[in-house]
Amino acid sequence: MCGIVGYNGALDAKEILLKGLEKLEYRGYDSAGIAVRNEEGVTVFKEKGRIADLRTAVDDDVTATIGIGHTRWATHGVPNKLNAHPHQSASGRFTLVHNGVIENYHLLQKAYLKGIQMQSDTDTEVIVQLVELFANEGLTTVEAFRKTLSLVHGSYALALLDKEDEDTIFVAKNKSPLLVGVGDGFNVVASDAMAMLQVTDQYIELRDKEVVLVHRDRVEITTLDGREIDRKPFKAELDASDIEKGTYPHYMLKEMDEQPGVVRKIIQEYSDVNGELAIDENILTALKEADRLYIIAAGTSYHAGLIGKQFFEKIAGIPVEVHISSEFGYNVPLLSEKPLFIFITQSGETADSRQVLVKIKEMGYPALTITNVPGSTLSREADYTLLLHAGPEIAVASTKAYVAQVAVLALAAYVTAQSTGKDIDFDLKQELAIAANGIQTMVDSKDELEQIAEDYLKIARNAFFIGRNLDYYVSLEGALKLKEISYIQAEGFAGGELKHGTIALIEEGTPVFALVSQEQVALNIRGNVKEVVARGANACIISMEGLEEEGDRLVIPKVHSLLTPLVTVVPLQLISYYAALHRRCDVDKPRNLAKSVTVE
Ligand code: M6R
Repeated sequence: MCGIVGYNGALDAKEILLKGLEKLEYRGYDSAGIAVRNEEGVTVFKEKGRIADLRTAVDDDVTATIGIGHTRWATHGVPNKLNAHPHQSASGRFTLVHNGVIENYHLLQKAYLKGIQMQSDTDTEVIVQLVELFANEGLTTVEAFRKTLSLVHGSYALALLDKEDEDTIFVAKNKSPLLVGVGDGFNVVASDAMAMLQVTDQYIELRDKEVVLVHRDRVEITTLDGREIDRKPFKAELDASDIEKGTYPHYMLKEMDEQPGVVRKIIQEYSDVNGELAIDENILTALKEADRLYIIAAGTSYHAGLIGKQFFEKIAGIPVEVHISSEFGYNVPLLSEKPLFIFITQSGETADSRQVLVKIKEMGYPALTITNVPGSTLSREADYTLLLHAGPEIAVASTKAYVAQVAVLALAAYVTAQSTGKDIDFDLKQELAIAANGIQTMVDSKDELEQIAEDYLKIARNAFFIGRNLDYYVSLEGALKLKEISYIQAEGFAGGELKHGTIALIEEGTPVFALVSQEQVALNIRGNVKEVVARGANACIISMEGLEEEGDRLVIPKVHSLLTPLVTVVPLQLISYYAALHRRCDVDKPRNLAKSVTVE
Protein backbone atom coordinates (compact mmCIF):
# COMPACT_ATOMS: atom_id res chain seq x y z
CA MET A 1 0.00 0.00 0.00
CA CYS A 2 1.42 3.28 -1.19
CA GLY A 3 4.45 3.32 -3.44
CA ILE A 4 7.62 5.33 -2.97
CA VAL A 5 10.32 6.38 -5.40
CA GLY A 6 13.39 8.58 -5.14
CA TYR A 7 16.10 9.64 -7.59
CA ASN A 8 19.45 11.31 -7.02
CA GLY A 9 21.58 11.65 -10.13
CA ALA A 10 22.40 13.83 -13.09
CA LEU A 11 19.20 13.62 -15.16
CA ASP A 12 15.97 15.52 -14.69
CA ALA A 13 14.30 13.69 -11.79
CA LYS A 14 10.68 14.50 -12.70
CA GLU A 15 10.23 12.08 -15.56
CA ILE A 16 12.08 9.26 -13.77
CA LEU A 17 9.91 9.73 -10.69
CA LEU A 18 6.69 9.87 -12.69
CA LYS A 19 7.58 6.77 -14.70
CA GLY A 20 8.52 5.00 -11.47
CA LEU A 21 5.20 5.94 -9.88
CA GLU A 22 3.31 4.63 -12.90
CA LYS A 23 4.87 1.23 -12.23
CA LEU A 24 3.90 1.45 -8.55
CA GLU A 25 0.33 2.54 -9.13
CA TYR A 26 -0.80 -1.01 -8.28
CA ARG A 27 0.16 -0.21 -4.67
CA GLY A 28 -2.37 2.61 -4.34
CA TYR A 29 -3.90 5.14 -6.65
CA ASP A 30 -6.07 7.64 -4.85
CA SER A 31 -3.59 10.52 -5.03
CA ALA A 32 0.04 11.05 -5.94
CA GLY A 33 2.82 13.56 -5.68
CA ILE A 34 6.47 14.33 -6.30
CA ALA A 35 8.92 16.78 -4.75
CA VAL A 36 12.09 17.91 -6.52
CA ARG A 37 14.93 20.01 -5.20
CA ASN A 38 17.08 22.48 -7.16
CA GLU A 39 19.01 25.68 -6.34
CA GLU A 40 15.74 27.50 -5.85
CA GLY A 41 14.48 25.11 -3.20
CA VAL A 42 12.02 22.23 -3.08
CA THR A 43 8.95 22.21 -5.34
CA VAL A 44 6.05 19.91 -4.57
CA PHE A 45 3.46 18.80 -7.11
CA LYS A 46 0.53 16.72 -5.96
CA GLU A 47 -2.90 15.78 -7.18
CA LYS A 48 -5.91 13.71 -6.19
CA GLY A 49 -6.37 10.74 -8.52
CA ARG A 50 -3.95 8.84 -10.73
CA ILE A 51 -0.39 9.46 -11.89
CA ALA A 52 -1.89 10.66 -15.18
CA ASP A 53 -3.59 13.46 -13.19
CA LEU A 54 -0.34 14.25 -11.42
CA ARG A 55 1.46 14.51 -14.77
CA THR A 56 -0.83 17.29 -15.87
CA ALA A 57 -0.08 19.18 -12.63
CA VAL A 58 3.72 18.98 -12.99
CA ASP A 59 5.37 22.10 -14.34
CA ASP A 60 7.79 21.17 -17.14
CA ASP A 61 9.86 24.26 -16.50
CA VAL A 62 11.01 23.10 -13.06
CA THR A 63 14.09 20.96 -13.51
CA ALA A 64 16.00 19.18 -10.76
CA THR A 65 18.26 16.18 -10.37
CA ILE A 66 17.08 14.96 -6.97
CA GLY A 67 13.54 14.16 -5.89
CA ILE A 68 11.06 11.82 -4.22
CA GLY A 69 7.58 10.62 -5.18
CA HIS A 70 4.57 8.79 -3.79
CA THR A 71 1.36 7.11 -4.90
CA ARG A 72 -1.16 6.77 -2.08
CA TRP A 73 -3.68 4.32 -0.68
CA ALA A 74 -5.36 6.38 2.02
CA THR A 75 -5.21 5.22 5.64
CA HIS A 76 -5.33 8.47 7.65
CA GLY A 77 -7.28 11.25 6.02
CA VAL A 78 -9.54 11.18 2.98
CA PRO A 79 -7.96 10.88 -0.45
CA ASN A 80 -7.55 14.53 -1.47
CA LYS A 81 -4.78 16.86 -2.55
CA LEU A 82 -4.11 18.05 1.00
CA ASN A 83 -3.50 14.57 2.32
CA ALA A 84 -1.52 13.48 -0.73
CA HIS A 85 2.21 13.02 -0.19
CA PRO A 86 4.86 14.52 -0.10
CA HIS A 87 4.26 16.38 3.17
CA GLN A 88 6.34 19.31 4.32
CA SER A 89 7.49 20.63 7.67
CA ALA A 90 6.19 23.97 8.95
CA SER A 91 9.03 26.02 7.41
CA GLY A 92 9.13 23.93 4.23
CA ARG A 93 12.70 22.83 4.93
CA PHE A 94 11.89 19.09 5.06
CA THR A 95 9.75 17.11 2.60
CA LEU A 96 8.69 13.51 3.19
CA VAL A 97 6.95 10.54 1.58
CA HIS A 98 5.76 7.61 3.68
CA ASN A 99 4.28 4.17 3.21
CA GLY A 100 2.87 2.55 6.35
CA VAL A 101 1.02 3.55 9.49
CA ILE A 102 2.41 5.48 12.45
CA GLU A 103 0.42 4.04 15.32
CA ASN A 104 1.42 6.61 17.96
CA TYR A 105 1.20 9.69 15.75
CA HIS A 106 -1.48 11.27 17.91
CA LEU A 107 0.55 10.82 21.09
CA LEU A 108 3.65 12.24 19.41
CA GLN A 109 1.68 15.19 18.14
CA LYS A 110 0.38 15.93 21.65
CA ALA A 111 3.75 15.42 23.30
CA TYR A 112 5.98 17.35 20.88
CA LEU A 113 4.04 19.35 18.33
CA LYS A 114 1.40 21.29 20.25
CA GLY A 115 2.41 24.62 18.73
CA ILE A 116 2.53 23.37 15.16
CA GLN A 117 -0.43 23.91 12.85
CA MET A 118 -0.83 20.61 10.97
CA GLN A 119 -1.54 20.93 7.25
CA SER A 120 -3.09 17.50 6.71
CA ASP A 121 -5.02 14.72 8.46
CA THR A 122 -2.24 12.20 7.93
CA ASP A 123 -0.09 10.32 10.42
CA THR A 124 2.85 11.01 8.10
CA GLU A 125 2.98 14.72 8.74
CA VAL A 126 3.97 14.13 12.36
CA ILE A 127 7.25 12.58 11.20
CA VAL A 128 8.30 15.48 9.03
CA GLN A 129 7.32 18.02 11.70
CA LEU A 130 9.33 16.10 14.32
CA VAL A 131 12.41 16.07 12.09
CA GLU A 132 12.16 19.84 11.79
CA LEU A 133 11.56 20.26 15.52
CA PHE A 134 14.70 18.32 16.38
CA ALA A 135 16.73 20.04 13.64
CA ASN A 136 15.64 23.39 15.07
CA GLU A 137 16.93 22.22 18.44
CA GLY A 138 20.39 21.92 16.89
CA LEU A 139 20.59 18.33 15.61
CA THR A 140 21.94 17.57 12.16
CA THR A 141 19.35 16.23 9.74
CA VAL A 142 20.47 12.65 10.12
CA GLU A 143 20.44 13.01 13.92
CA ALA A 144 16.96 14.54 13.81
CA PHE A 145 15.82 11.74 11.51
CA ARG A 146 17.25 9.08 13.82
CA LYS A 147 15.70 10.68 16.89
CA THR A 148 12.31 10.80 15.16
CA LEU A 149 12.56 7.15 14.15
CA SER A 150 13.40 6.16 17.71
CA LEU A 151 10.07 7.67 18.81
CA VAL A 152 7.67 6.34 16.18
CA HIS A 153 5.80 3.06 16.51
CA GLY A 154 4.36 1.38 13.50
CA SER A 155 5.28 0.59 9.94
CA TYR A 156 7.10 2.89 7.62
CA ALA A 157 9.09 3.21 4.44
CA LEU A 158 10.33 6.79 4.30
CA ALA A 159 12.20 9.06 1.93
CA LEU A 160 13.05 12.57 3.13
CA LEU A 161 14.53 15.62 1.39
CA ASP A 162 16.24 18.50 3.19
CA LYS A 163 16.15 21.83 1.32
CA GLU A 164 19.58 22.61 2.77
CA ASP A 165 21.18 19.39 1.53
CA GLU A 166 21.62 19.15 -2.22
CA ASP A 167 22.90 15.58 -2.31
CA THR A 168 20.99 13.34 0.10
CA ILE A 169 17.74 11.40 0.25
CA PHE A 170 17.29 10.22 3.86
CA VAL A 171 15.70 6.79 3.85
CA ALA A 172 14.47 4.32 6.47
CA LYS A 173 12.08 1.39 6.72
CA ASN A 174 10.29 -0.71 9.28
CA LYS A 175 7.90 -3.50 8.26
CA SER A 176 7.16 -1.78 4.91
CA PRO A 177 9.18 -2.74 1.83
CA LEU A 178 11.87 -0.44 0.45
CA LEU A 179 14.90 -0.94 -1.78
CA VAL A 180 17.78 1.25 -2.82
CA GLY A 181 18.84 0.90 -6.45
CA VAL A 182 22.40 1.67 -7.47
CA GLY A 183 23.64 3.00 -10.79
CA ASP A 184 26.58 4.68 -12.41
CA GLY A 185 26.48 8.28 -11.20
CA PHE A 186 23.03 7.99 -9.66
CA ASN A 187 21.13 6.09 -7.00
CA VAL A 188 17.43 5.50 -6.54
CA VAL A 189 14.85 4.48 -3.97
CA ALA A 190 11.79 2.31 -4.68
CA SER A 191 9.14 0.27 -2.92
CA ASP A 192 9.55 -2.32 -5.64
CA ALA A 193 12.42 -2.91 -8.09
CA MET A 194 9.87 -2.76 -10.91
CA ALA A 195 9.59 1.00 -10.49
CA MET A 196 13.21 1.75 -11.25
CA LEU A 197 13.98 -1.04 -13.68
CA GLN A 198 13.93 1.82 -16.21
CA VAL A 199 17.35 2.93 -14.87
CA THR A 200 18.91 0.00 -12.97
CA ASP A 201 18.57 -3.69 -12.15
CA GLN A 202 20.99 -3.53 -9.18
CA TYR A 203 19.31 -3.25 -5.79
CA ILE A 204 20.30 -3.23 -2.14
CA GLU A 205 17.87 -4.80 0.26
CA LEU A 206 17.15 -2.68 3.35
CA ARG A 207 16.38 -4.17 6.75
CA ASP A 208 14.02 -2.85 9.36
CA LYS A 209 15.22 0.15 11.37
CA GLU A 210 18.20 0.88 9.18
CA VAL A 211 18.93 4.48 8.25
CA VAL A 212 20.22 4.99 4.74
CA LEU A 213 21.70 8.07 3.11
CA VAL A 214 21.29 7.94 -0.65
CA HIS A 215 23.81 10.26 -2.28
CA ARG A 216 24.36 10.66 -5.98
CA ASP A 217 27.58 8.62 -5.98
CA ARG A 218 27.29 6.40 -2.91
CA VAL A 219 24.89 4.80 -0.46
CA GLU A 220 25.55 4.80 3.29
CA ILE A 221 23.67 2.17 5.27
CA THR A 222 23.70 2.36 9.09
CA THR A 223 21.77 0.89 11.96
CA LEU A 224 19.45 3.15 13.93
CA ASP A 225 22.26 3.72 16.44
CA GLY A 226 24.73 4.66 13.71
CA ARG A 227 26.76 1.48 13.10
CA GLU A 228 27.90 1.20 9.48
CA ILE A 229 26.72 -1.72 7.36
CA ASP A 230 28.27 -3.01 4.18
CA ARG A 231 25.79 -4.74 1.89
CA LYS A 232 26.25 -5.73 -1.72
CA PRO A 233 23.55 -5.17 -4.33
CA PHE A 234 21.70 -8.03 -5.97
CA LYS A 235 20.42 -8.22 -9.54
CA ALA A 236 16.64 -7.93 -9.85
CA GLU A 237 15.63 -10.85 -12.04
CA LEU A 238 12.83 -9.00 -13.73
CA ASP A 239 12.30 -8.69 -17.41
CA ALA A 240 11.01 -5.25 -18.35
CA SER A 241 8.57 -6.89 -20.81
CA ASP A 242 7.02 -8.87 -17.91
CA ILE A 243 5.71 -5.68 -16.46
CA GLU A 244 4.34 -4.22 -19.67
CA LYS A 245 0.79 -4.76 -20.89
CA GLY A 246 1.93 -5.17 -24.46
CA THR A 247 -1.08 -5.20 -26.77
CA TYR A 248 -3.50 -6.14 -23.99
CA PRO A 249 -6.08 -3.57 -22.87
CA HIS A 250 -5.65 -4.68 -19.25
CA TYR A 251 -3.05 -6.46 -17.15
CA MET A 252 -5.79 -8.70 -15.78
CA LEU A 253 -6.56 -10.05 -19.25
CA LYS A 254 -2.87 -10.61 -19.98
CA GLU A 255 -2.39 -12.36 -16.65
CA MET A 256 -5.40 -14.64 -17.16
CA ASP A 257 -4.02 -15.57 -20.58
CA GLU A 258 -0.67 -16.42 -19.00
CA GLN A 259 -2.20 -19.06 -16.71
CA PRO A 260 -1.61 -22.17 -18.83
CA GLY A 261 2.03 -21.14 -19.20
CA VAL A 262 2.33 -20.56 -15.46
CA VAL A 263 1.24 -24.12 -14.69
CA ARG A 264 3.69 -25.47 -17.27
CA LYS A 265 6.46 -23.32 -15.82
CA ILE A 266 5.76 -24.67 -12.34
CA ILE A 267 6.02 -28.24 -13.62
CA GLN A 268 9.36 -27.34 -15.17
CA GLU A 269 10.73 -25.41 -12.17
CA TYR A 270 9.82 -28.19 -9.77
CA SER A 271 11.14 -31.12 -11.84
CA ASP A 272 14.46 -32.71 -10.90
CA VAL A 273 17.16 -33.95 -13.27
CA ASN A 274 15.24 -37.19 -13.75
CA GLY A 275 12.13 -35.30 -14.69
CA GLU A 276 10.38 -36.17 -11.40
CA LEU A 277 8.47 -33.57 -9.42
CA ALA A 278 10.60 -32.42 -6.49
CA ILE A 279 10.91 -29.71 -3.87
CA ASP A 280 13.85 -28.62 -1.75
CA GLU A 281 14.92 -31.40 0.66
CA ASN A 282 14.78 -29.12 3.72
CA ILE A 283 11.22 -28.11 2.92
CA LEU A 284 10.29 -31.72 2.37
CA THR A 285 11.75 -32.66 5.75
CA ALA A 286 9.87 -29.81 7.44
CA LEU A 287 6.61 -30.94 5.85
CA LYS A 288 7.17 -34.57 6.81
CA GLU A 289 8.15 -33.75 10.38
CA ALA A 290 5.09 -31.59 11.03
CA ASP A 291 2.17 -33.21 12.80
CA ARG A 292 -0.16 -30.44 11.58
CA LEU A 293 0.07 -27.65 9.02
CA TYR A 294 -1.32 -24.20 9.75
CA ILE A 295 -2.01 -22.28 6.57
CA ILE A 296 -2.17 -18.52 7.06
CA ALA A 297 -3.34 -16.21 4.27
CA ALA A 298 -5.71 -13.44 3.21
CA GLY A 299 -8.20 -12.91 0.38
CA THR A 300 -7.53 -14.91 -2.74
CA SER A 301 -4.52 -16.57 -1.12
CA TYR A 302 -6.80 -17.74 1.69
CA HIS A 303 -9.08 -19.34 -0.90
CA ALA A 304 -6.06 -21.14 -2.36
CA GLY A 305 -5.20 -22.23 1.20
CA LEU A 306 -8.62 -23.88 1.62
CA ILE A 307 -7.85 -25.97 -1.45
CA GLY A 308 -4.32 -26.65 -0.18
CA LYS A 309 -5.83 -28.17 2.95
CA GLN A 310 -7.66 -30.71 0.81
CA PHE A 311 -4.45 -31.60 -1.02
CA PHE A 312 -2.39 -32.14 2.12
CA GLU A 313 -5.12 -34.08 3.89
CA LYS A 314 -6.25 -36.20 0.94
CA ILE A 315 -2.95 -36.82 -0.81
CA ALA A 316 -0.38 -36.67 1.99
CA GLY A 317 -2.55 -37.52 5.02
CA ILE A 318 -1.34 -34.51 7.04
CA PRO A 319 -3.97 -32.61 9.03
CA VAL A 320 -4.29 -28.94 8.12
CA GLU A 321 -5.95 -25.85 9.54
CA VAL A 322 -6.49 -22.76 7.41
CA HIS A 323 -6.67 -19.35 9.08
CA ILE A 324 -7.39 -15.83 7.91
CA SER A 325 -4.24 -13.96 8.84
CA SER A 326 -5.92 -10.84 10.26
CA GLU A 327 -7.88 -13.00 12.75
CA PHE A 328 -5.14 -15.38 13.80
CA GLY A 329 -3.40 -12.94 16.17
CA TYR A 330 -6.45 -12.65 18.43
CA ASN A 331 -7.55 -16.18 17.98
CA VAL A 332 -4.53 -18.45 18.19
CA PRO A 333 -5.92 -22.00 18.13
CA LEU A 334 -4.62 -24.74 20.38
CA LEU A 335 -1.50 -25.71 18.50
CA SER A 336 -0.28 -29.23 17.90
CA GLU A 337 3.10 -30.43 19.16
CA LYS A 338 5.01 -30.03 15.90
CA PRO A 339 3.28 -27.43 13.79
CA LEU A 340 4.57 -26.05 10.51
CA PHE A 341 3.15 -22.69 9.47
CA ILE A 342 2.59 -22.12 5.76
CA PHE A 343 2.12 -18.52 4.61
CA ILE A 344 0.50 -18.18 1.22
CA THR A 345 0.96 -14.74 -0.25
CA GLN A 346 1.29 -13.51 -3.78
CA SER A 347 3.12 -10.32 -2.80
CA GLY A 348 5.01 -11.62 0.21
CA GLU A 349 4.29 -8.26 1.86
CA THR A 350 0.81 -8.62 3.35
CA ALA A 351 1.00 -7.01 6.80
CA ASP A 352 -1.76 -9.17 8.29
CA SER A 353 0.18 -12.31 7.40
CA ARG A 354 3.48 -10.85 8.44
CA GLN A 355 2.29 -10.07 11.95
CA VAL A 356 1.40 -13.76 12.32
CA LEU A 357 4.82 -14.77 11.02
CA VAL A 358 6.53 -12.50 13.55
CA LYS A 359 4.38 -13.94 16.33
CA ILE A 360 4.94 -17.60 15.50
CA LYS A 361 8.69 -17.05 15.04
CA GLU A 362 8.75 -15.55 18.54
CA MET A 363 7.02 -18.73 19.69
CA GLY A 364 9.81 -20.72 18.03
CA TYR A 365 7.82 -22.42 15.25
CA PRO A 366 9.08 -23.05 11.72
CA ALA A 367 7.54 -21.26 8.75
CA LEU A 368 7.31 -21.83 5.02
CA THR A 369 6.25 -19.01 2.71
CA ILE A 370 4.68 -19.72 -0.66
CA THR A 371 5.03 -16.51 -2.65
CA ASN A 372 5.48 -15.05 -6.09
CA VAL A 373 8.09 -12.52 -4.99
CA PRO A 374 11.58 -13.75 -4.19
CA GLY A 375 13.22 -11.62 -1.50
CA SER A 376 9.87 -10.31 -0.24
CA THR A 377 9.46 -9.75 3.50
CA LEU A 378 7.53 -12.94 4.19
CA SER A 379 10.02 -14.91 2.15
CA ARG A 380 13.04 -13.45 3.93
CA GLU A 381 11.59 -13.87 7.38
CA ALA A 382 10.37 -17.45 6.99
CA ASP A 383 12.65 -20.48 7.27
CA TYR A 384 11.74 -21.75 3.81
CA THR A 385 10.27 -20.42 0.57
CA LEU A 386 8.48 -22.06 -2.32
CA LEU A 387 8.21 -19.70 -5.28
CA LEU A 388 5.15 -19.49 -7.49
CA HIS A 389 7.06 -18.65 -10.69
CA ALA A 390 4.01 -16.84 -12.05
CA GLY A 391 5.87 -13.70 -13.19
CA PRO A 392 4.85 -10.25 -11.93
CA GLU A 393 1.13 -9.89 -11.29
CA ILE A 394 0.16 -6.26 -11.71
CA ALA A 395 -3.64 -6.25 -11.83
CA VAL A 396 -5.06 -5.82 -8.35
CA ALA A 397 -7.36 -8.79 -8.88
CA SER A 398 -5.23 -11.87 -8.45
CA THR A 399 -5.64 -14.51 -11.15
CA LYS A 400 -2.45 -16.24 -12.25
CA ALA A 401 -1.00 -16.10 -8.73
CA TYR A 402 -4.04 -18.00 -7.41
CA VAL A 403 -3.66 -20.67 -10.09
CA ALA A 404 0.06 -20.89 -9.26
CA GLN A 405 -0.68 -21.17 -5.53
CA VAL A 406 -3.08 -24.06 -6.13
CA ALA A 407 -0.58 -25.81 -8.43
CA VAL A 408 2.35 -25.39 -6.01
CA LEU A 409 0.24 -26.60 -3.06
CA ALA A 410 -0.78 -29.69 -5.04
CA LEU A 411 2.83 -30.30 -5.92
CA ALA A 412 4.10 -29.90 -2.36
CA ALA A 413 1.43 -32.26 -1.03
CA TYR A 414 2.13 -34.80 -3.75
CA VAL A 415 5.91 -34.80 -3.29
CA THR A 416 5.44 -35.12 0.48
CA ALA A 417 3.08 -38.04 -0.01
CA GLN A 418 5.49 -39.74 -2.40
CA SER A 419 8.39 -39.42 -0.02
CA THR A 420 6.39 -40.86 2.89
CA GLY A 421 5.43 -43.87 0.78
CA LYS A 422 1.74 -43.00 0.50
CA ASP A 423 -0.27 -44.91 -2.02
CA ILE A 424 -0.93 -42.45 -4.85
CA ASP A 425 -2.96 -43.52 -7.85
CA PHE A 426 -2.20 -40.68 -10.21
CA ASP A 427 0.72 -38.95 -11.87
CA LEU A 428 0.55 -35.29 -10.82
CA LYS A 429 2.93 -34.11 -13.49
CA GLN A 430 0.72 -35.52 -16.18
CA GLU A 431 -2.47 -34.27 -14.52
CA LEU A 432 -1.06 -30.74 -14.14
CA ALA A 433 -0.21 -30.75 -17.85
CA ILE A 434 -3.80 -31.81 -18.64
CA ALA A 435 -5.06 -29.05 -16.34
CA ALA A 436 -2.86 -26.50 -18.17
CA ASN A 437 -4.55 -27.54 -21.41
CA GLY A 438 -7.94 -27.22 -19.72
CA ILE A 439 -7.07 -23.68 -18.62
CA GLN A 440 -6.03 -22.91 -22.20
CA THR A 441 -9.43 -24.06 -23.48
CA MET A 442 -11.09 -21.73 -20.98
CA VAL A 443 -9.00 -18.66 -21.84
CA ASP A 444 -9.76 -19.41 -25.49
CA SER A 445 -13.49 -19.27 -24.73
CA LYS A 446 -13.57 -15.51 -24.22
CA ASP A 447 -16.45 -14.81 -26.61
CA GLU A 448 -18.71 -17.27 -24.83
CA LEU A 449 -17.67 -15.98 -21.40
CA GLU A 450 -18.27 -12.39 -22.43
CA GLN A 451 -21.74 -13.43 -23.57
CA ILE A 452 -22.39 -15.14 -20.23
CA ALA A 453 -21.36 -11.94 -18.40
CA GLU A 454 -23.76 -10.00 -20.60
CA ASP A 455 -26.63 -12.47 -20.17
CA TYR A 456 -26.37 -12.88 -16.42
CA LEU A 457 -24.75 -9.77 -15.00
CA LYS A 458 -25.58 -6.83 -17.23
CA ILE A 459 -28.20 -5.40 -14.91
CA ALA A 460 -27.58 -7.55 -11.82
CA ARG A 461 -27.34 -5.91 -8.41
CA ASN A 462 -26.11 -9.07 -6.77
CA ALA A 463 -25.00 -12.61 -7.63
CA PHE A 464 -24.36 -15.93 -5.96
CA PHE A 465 -21.74 -18.56 -6.60
CA ILE A 466 -22.41 -22.04 -5.31
CA GLY A 467 -20.55 -25.32 -5.26
CA ARG A 468 -19.83 -28.27 -3.04
CA ASN A 469 -16.52 -29.67 -1.88
CA LEU A 470 -13.67 -28.10 -3.92
CA ASP A 471 -16.23 -26.22 -6.01
CA TYR A 472 -17.31 -24.40 -2.87
CA TYR A 473 -13.84 -22.90 -2.38
CA VAL A 474 -13.72 -21.83 -6.01
CA SER A 475 -17.16 -20.25 -5.54
CA LEU A 476 -15.69 -18.09 -2.79
CA GLU A 477 -12.95 -16.98 -5.15
CA GLY A 478 -15.41 -16.38 -8.02
CA ALA A 479 -17.51 -14.14 -5.78
CA LEU A 480 -14.45 -12.20 -4.61
CA LYS A 481 -13.33 -11.62 -8.20
CA LEU A 482 -16.74 -10.36 -9.25
CA LYS A 483 -17.22 -7.99 -6.34
CA GLU A 484 -13.75 -6.51 -6.32
CA ILE A 485 -13.68 -5.50 -9.98
CA SER A 486 -17.34 -5.01 -10.97
CA TYR A 487 -18.70 -3.83 -7.57
CA ILE A 488 -21.62 -6.25 -7.90
CA GLN A 489 -22.53 -7.60 -4.47
CA ALA A 490 -21.57 -11.29 -4.70
CA GLU A 491 -21.35 -14.18 -2.27
CA GLY A 492 -19.89 -17.65 -2.53
CA PHE A 493 -21.74 -20.43 -0.76
CA ALA A 494 -21.57 -24.10 -0.07
CA GLY A 495 -24.53 -25.39 -2.11
CA GLY A 496 -26.15 -27.05 0.88
CA GLU A 497 -25.92 -23.94 3.02
CA LEU A 498 -28.20 -21.64 1.02
CA LYS A 499 -31.38 -23.16 2.39
CA HIS A 500 -30.23 -22.29 5.90
CA GLY A 501 -30.92 -18.62 5.37
CA THR A 502 -29.47 -17.05 2.28
CA ILE A 503 -32.03 -18.51 -0.10
CA ALA A 504 -34.29 -15.74 1.23
CA LEU A 505 -32.32 -13.37 -1.01
CA ILE A 506 -33.11 -15.24 -4.22
CA GLU A 507 -35.70 -13.42 -6.28
CA GLU A 508 -36.80 -13.22 -9.89
CA GLY A 509 -33.68 -13.01 -12.08
CA THR A 510 -31.01 -13.31 -9.35
CA PRO A 511 -27.90 -14.71 -11.06
CA VAL A 512 -26.62 -17.93 -9.51
CA PHE A 513 -23.43 -19.48 -10.88
CA ALA A 514 -23.19 -23.16 -9.96
CA LEU A 515 -20.05 -25.26 -10.36
CA VAL A 516 -20.42 -28.96 -11.03
CA SER A 517 -16.98 -30.56 -11.20
CA GLN A 518 -17.10 -32.95 -8.23
CA GLU A 519 -18.71 -36.25 -9.19
CA GLN A 520 -19.65 -37.39 -5.68
CA VAL A 521 -21.74 -34.25 -5.07
CA ALA A 522 -22.87 -33.47 -8.62
CA LEU A 523 -26.46 -34.54 -7.99
CA ASN A 524 -26.61 -32.62 -4.73
CA ILE A 525 -25.47 -29.36 -6.27
CA ARG A 526 -27.88 -29.85 -9.16
CA GLY A 527 -30.58 -30.25 -6.50
CA ASN A 528 -29.51 -26.91 -5.00
CA VAL A 529 -29.75 -25.31 -8.43
CA LYS A 530 -33.32 -26.59 -8.75
CA GLU A 531 -34.14 -25.01 -5.38
CA VAL A 532 -32.97 -21.57 -6.47
CA VAL A 533 -34.48 -21.82 -9.94
CA ALA A 534 -37.83 -22.67 -8.31
CA ARG A 535 -37.54 -19.29 -6.58
CA GLY A 536 -36.80 -17.34 -9.76
CA ALA A 537 -33.00 -17.50 -9.99
CA ASN A 538 -31.27 -17.16 -13.33
CA ALA A 539 -28.90 -20.13 -12.96
CA CYS A 540 -25.72 -20.56 -14.94
CA ILE A 541 -24.33 -24.07 -14.58
CA ILE A 542 -20.67 -24.61 -15.32
CA SER A 543 -19.99 -28.32 -15.31
CA MET A 544 -17.10 -30.59 -16.13
CA GLU A 545 -17.00 -32.92 -19.12
CA GLY A 546 -18.45 -36.27 -18.06
CA LEU A 547 -20.79 -34.60 -15.55
CA GLU A 548 -22.57 -32.27 -17.97
CA GLU A 549 -26.31 -32.25 -18.59
CA GLU A 550 -28.47 -30.61 -21.17
CA GLY A 551 -28.93 -26.94 -20.42
CA ASP A 552 -25.56 -26.42 -18.75
CA ARG A 553 -24.20 -23.11 -19.95
CA LEU A 554 -20.51 -24.04 -20.08
CA VAL A 555 -18.63 -27.32 -19.98
CA ILE A 556 -15.01 -27.31 -18.88
CA PRO A 557 -12.58 -29.99 -20.10
CA LYS A 558 -12.16 -33.04 -17.89
CA VAL A 559 -9.29 -32.84 -15.41
CA HIS A 560 -8.34 -34.82 -12.30
CA SER A 561 -11.02 -34.32 -9.64
CA LEU A 562 -8.51 -32.75 -7.21
CA LEU A 563 -7.23 -30.28 -9.80
CA THR A 564 -10.58 -28.89 -10.95
CA PRO A 565 -10.01 -25.59 -9.03
CA LEU A 566 -7.23 -24.78 -11.51
CA VAL A 567 -9.74 -24.80 -14.35
CA THR A 568 -13.15 -23.91 -12.85
CA VAL A 569 -11.79 -20.61 -11.54
CA VAL A 570 -10.84 -19.40 -15.04
CA PRO A 571 -14.37 -18.90 -16.44
CA LEU A 572 -15.31 -17.13 -13.22
CA GLN A 573 -12.33 -14.78 -13.58
CA LEU A 574 -13.23 -14.01 -17.19
CA ILE A 575 -16.94 -13.55 -16.46
CA SER A 576 -15.99 -11.06 -13.72
CA TYR A 577 -13.64 -9.30 -16.12
CA TYR A 578 -16.32 -8.84 -18.77
CA ALA A 579 -18.95 -7.86 -16.20
CA ALA A 580 -16.58 -5.14 -14.99
CA LEU A 581 -15.87 -4.01 -18.54
CA HIS A 582 -19.58 -3.78 -19.35
CA ARG A 583 -19.94 -1.52 -16.32
CA ARG A 584 -16.96 0.57 -17.42
CA CYS A 585 -15.09 -0.19 -14.21
CA ASP A 586 -11.36 0.27 -13.96
CA VAL A 587 -10.51 -3.42 -14.14
CA ASP A 588 -6.86 -3.25 -13.16
CA LYS A 589 -7.29 -0.68 -10.40
CA PRO A 590 -10.62 -1.21 -8.69
CA ARG A 591 -11.78 1.46 -6.30
CA ASN A 592 -10.58 1.44 -2.68
CA LEU A 593 -8.08 -1.37 -3.25
CA ALA A 594 -4.34 -1.84 -3.66
CA LYS A 595 -2.31 -4.79 -4.82
CA SER A 596 -0.02 -5.05 -1.87
CA VAL A 597 -1.75 -4.67 1.47
CA THR A 598 1.04 -3.52 3.75
CA VAL A 599 -1.09 -2.14 6.57
CA GLU A 600 -2.82 -4.27 9.20
O1 M6R B 1 -0.28 -10.68 -1.56
P1 M6R B 1 -1.25 -11.58 -0.85
O2 M6R B 1 -1.55 -12.81 -1.59
O3 M6R B 1 -0.82 -11.87 0.58
O4 M6R B 1 -2.56 -10.70 -0.74
C1 M6R B 1 -3.67 -11.14 -0.03
C2 M6R B 1 -4.93 -10.49 -0.55
O5 M6R B 1 -4.88 -9.10 -0.33
C3 M6R B 1 -5.10 -10.73 -2.05
O6 M6R B 1 -5.10 -12.10 -2.32
C4 M6R B 1 -6.41 -10.11 -2.56
O7 M6R B 1 -7.49 -10.74 -1.97
C5 M6R B 1 -6.45 -10.24 -4.07
N1 M6R B 1 -5.72 -9.17 -4.69
C6 M6R B 1 -7.82 -10.26 -4.60
O8 M6R B 1 -7.84 -10.49 -5.97
